[in-house]
Amino acid sequence: MQKVTLPVLNEIRARNEKFAVLTAYDFTFSRLLEQAQIEVVLVGDSLGNVIQGRDSTLPVTVEDMVYHTAAVKRGNGKSLLISDMPFMSYATVEQALYNASALMQAGAHMVKLEGGRWLAETVAALTERGIPVCGHIGLTPQSVHKMGGYKVQGRDEGAAAAMIADAVELQQAGADLMLVECIPSALGRDLRAALEIPLIGIGAGPDTDGQVLVLHDMLGISARLPSFSHNFLASQPSIAEALSAYGKAVRCGEFPAQEHCFD
Ligand code: KIV
Repeated sequence: MQKVTLPVLNEIRARNEKFAVLTAYDFTFSRLLEQAQIEVVLVGDSLGNVIQGRDSTLPVTVEDMVYHTAAVKRGNGKSLLISDMPFMSYATVEQALYNASALMQAGAHMVKLEGGRWLAETVAALTERGIPVCGHIGLTPQSVHKMGGYKVQGRDEGAAAAMIADAVELQQAGADLMLVECIPSALGRDLRAALEIPLIGIGAGPDTDGQVLVLHDMLGISARLPSFSHNFLASQPSIAEALSAYGKAVRCGEFPAQEHCFD
C-alpha cells in the first residue's frame, strides 16, 4: 500500500471507489492494519468502551488519546491516522487548538470532532493552522445523554435537511473529511451527493466513500455486536485474514449488506 494521505482519499472518491477504515488503539493491531492495507486508522474514543470498559466515551481524556495515538503511530507508517478529540476537549476554540496540537504531536495526521455547525469556527481555526479535521455527525456518542440513547439519527425530513446543512457548513469551514454514524441509507447517499470531501460511514448505508467499524466489533470480541457491524473473524482462519477480508469487502461494495443498513 502506498502511504495514504488526504489527496489519496480524494482521488479514491473521484474514481467512485471505496476505502476501508478501522479503529486501533495499540501498536500490535495498528501494525496488522497496515499489513492488511487498511487505508485509514482511527484512534477512536471508543477506547473508553472496548479498552477501558466504560459505559460511554465521556470519561476518555486527552491524555488517554495521546497515549494510544503514540502507540498506534509506532505500529503503522502507511495508513492515514485520525485521532478523536475526546469529550469537552474542544468546548472552546482555544481548548481545541491546545488539545489538537497534543494529538498531532503524538503522531495523528488529523483530528475528529463530534458536532454540527456550532463547530464551524473551531474547524476553521484548526484547519487554518494546518491541522486537518474530520467532522463527525449523525449519532455523536459524546452527546448520548442529550440524544437520550444510541439511536438512529436523521429519520425525519427536517432532521435530515439539518444534518446535510451541518455537513456543508463544516466543509465550507475547512473540514477535510466527514464521518457520519447511524443514519438511514438514503440520507447517507444524499450526504455524499451534497459534499465534495470524502464521506466515511458507520451504519450509514452502502453509498459513502469509506466505511469504518470498531475493531473489536468486526473481530466479534465486543460485549455486544451492533446490528450495523459484522464479525469478519467468524469466516476467516486468523485475525490478519479477517482484517484483509474486511478491506476487500468494503472496496468491492460487499460490505455493508442490506442487513447492516437502516431504512
Ligand atoms: O470512537 C470511535 O470509534 C468512532 C467510531 C464509532 C466511528 O468514532
